[in-house]
Amino acid sequence: MLLHAENVTKTFSMGGRPLCVVNGATVDIDRGEIVAIVGPSGAGKSTLLQILGLVDRPSTGEVYYEGRALGRLSERERANHRNRHFGFVFQFFHLLPELTALENALLPNMIGTSFLAWPKHRGRYRSRAEDVLRRLGLGGRLHHRPSQLSGGERQRVAIARALSNDPAVIFCDEPTGNLDHGTSEEIRRALWDLNRSLGTTFVIVTHHEALAREAHRVLHMEDGRIVNGEEAAAAAAARLAARVSPDPEGAAPGHAPLLDAVAKPDPEAPPRRLGRGDMPPAPPPEFLPPARGPAPGREAEPPGQA
Ligand SMILES: Nc1ncnc2c1ncn2[C@@H]1O[C@H](COP(=O)(O)OP(=O)(O)OP(=O)(O)O)[C@@H](O)[C@H]1O
Ligand SMILES: [Mg+2]
Repeated sequence: MLLHAENVTKTFSMGGRPLCVVNGATVDIDRGEIVAIVGPSGAGKSTLLQILGLVDRPSTGEVYYEGRALGRLSERERANHRNRHFGFVFQFFHLLPELTALENALLPNMIGTSFLAWPKHRGRYRSRAEDVLRRLGLGGRLHHRPSQLSGGERQRVAIARALSNDPAVIFCDEPTGNLDHGTSEEIRRALWDLNRSLGTTFVIVTHHEALAREAHRVLHMEDGRIVNGEEAAAAAAARLAARVSPDPEGAAPGHAPLLDAVAKPDPEAPPRRLGRGDMPPAPPPEFLPPARGPAPGREAEPPGQA
């Protein structure tokens, strides 16, 4: 089992009263699966997704990755785990407007690679990002900025960015929520192609019926609970027992690394200090390691970045 959440809850305090928004959810995600999470607004889908993706901590319960309990990891270790194993795609793309498609796709690599290691890996990361963008049909848009791209193209850049650290799992929260029907179907096909060709596991919160219908498994949430949990668990167990590939054509038995030739970010290495020319001031928070020391803007600019 790749990812397992055991009886997780999330309770917020609202006006001094507890508000339980995830209420005892147990979830198994197998490698290579596409799992959709559906349910009414306010059911707790995004909150559960954030718990599974280590963006948020559960109030009680535990999340396991490849059998290892993650509850005791420090914030820094959780950030490293996310950078190494997980990618994220959101409804509103969250691209940085000053960067080109290629630069946006490279951003997590830049953040996850130490300053000293960057020159050594930059060329390979760059050609890999170009390759991923081409796979996603954006070969002719590498140097366009987000404002020069359509909604579907922006979301494909966000998908390329999510793939940049060669993650085992990509978490998507309403990836087609801001797109028209035809473009949504384009994005769905792109995700399914990546699942087939790379074996990437997808956990997708969605209101998009076609997307849920095509998923390997659907978890229904209501009032913080997974209401079809037993049925979904039985389907997962049956698939595991039969060792059936998620792909009916037999591809993608596991995660096929795209990044063979490039070292993974070193989890112990300090975050690379970014120069002024590297990126604008507000990268998406889910890609940043926990803050340490003075803000980058106040540090001396490292020499020879470009
Ligand atoms: N930080 C918070 N503090 C208090 N309540 C919160 C917080 N985050 C979420 N909630 C509440 O938890 C409930 C579940 O939120 P969540 O975003 O997980 O729902 P959702 O199923 O993703 O809904 P939607 O389909 O509308 O995106 C909501 O009622 C929301 O108001
Ligand atoms: Mg939501």
